[in-house]
Amino acid sequence: MQEQINNLKNEAIALITQAGSANELEELRRTYLGRKGKINEFVKLMAEATGTERAQLGKSINETKQVIVQALTDQAENYRQQTAWLDVTQPGKLPPMGHLHPITQAIEEITRIFEGIGFTRVRYPEIDYDWYVFTALNMPPKHPARDEWETFFIDASSHPSKGELVLTTHTSNGQVREMERVKIPPIRMLNIGKCYRRQQDVTHTAMFHQFEGLVIDSGITIQHLKGTLNYFARKFYGPQAKSRIRPFMFKFTEPSFEVDFSCVHCNGEGCRFCKSGWHEVGGAGMVHPNVLKAGGIDPEKYTGFAFGWGVERVYTLKPGLHLDDIRPLYSTNLEFLEQF
Ligand code: PHE
Repeated sequence: MQEQINNLKNEAIALITQAGSANELEELRRTYLGRKGKINEFVKLMAEATGTERAQLGKSINETKQVIVQALTDQAENYRQQTAWLDVTQPGKLPPMGHLHPITQAIEEITRIFEGIGFTRVRYPEIDYDWYVFTALNMPPKHPARDEWETFFIDASSHPSKGELVLTTHTSNGQVREMERVKIPPIRMLNIGKCYRRQQDVTHTAMFHQFEGLVIDSGITIQHLKGTLNYFARKFYGPQAKSRIRPFMFKFTEPSFEVDFSCVHCNGEGCRFCKSGWHEVGGAGMVHPNVLKAGGIDPEKYTGFAFGWGVERVYTLKPGLHLDDIRPLYSTNLEFLEQF
């Protein structure tokens, strides 16, 4: 009878491992383990044996039963894995995605606005010679006007004619560089770059960005400058925004102005946010004849205007952006940056 039990075991395992569906497995379970199943037939036969033979058979039947139970469980698991529900039309899981830094977004927006009126975006060195940053801009060495720009100097040997290397304190270094590149006007330049000054407080960081406009052609007047200022104000802040110029002093422009934009909260009426109705954003003026000469352009034939403003400055004045501390823009605090 022992041999028959072995045969039963082998047969059961062979059938179970071939079973292809849950129904077949259930069928096999009943055939072998059911109340009227094959195992129970042996149990009945065993009852007729005696002594050690009976004990032997009992053990063997139990083992066989366990093997069959295990085989059924394994096969059910195999089957379940093979047929696990897979919806191939389900969308995949998106990895976390970043976005452009708010200042990069502002730079792109400013670029698009000026491209709309024919400006060409350029970039010039952010470490540049004294010549382009100061001397060519009508600020000879030791001129007191240089003190306004709290300059970082580079510890390197200086150029025989262009002088020391500095971290650019303004994007105005692009003015003469652009005149050298284009040579013959018209020039419509938009230079956006990093600037550096020895400063650090809630509205100033040692590194910041400026955008510089330079237009040179025959017959360029303050009217063109004013028109450009108003155009930018409307495009960047909304249709009701206005600009205003106030007399000022820069060595590289004559006359020179400070430029204000009307407050987006009170439209120039004056409120808690702006006090006067206006926000100062930067400088502008008519390019000084000495600067045109330094760039190889004849001031008798051509005139031009230039302006230079802080990207952070114009950006933080946008409606809905009450940013009274610009330093977090340059932190790595994602919770802050993700809001933009
Ligand atoms: N470079 C000046 C500044 O940094 C701004 C300016 C640019 C003024 C062009 C006049 C013309 O303050």
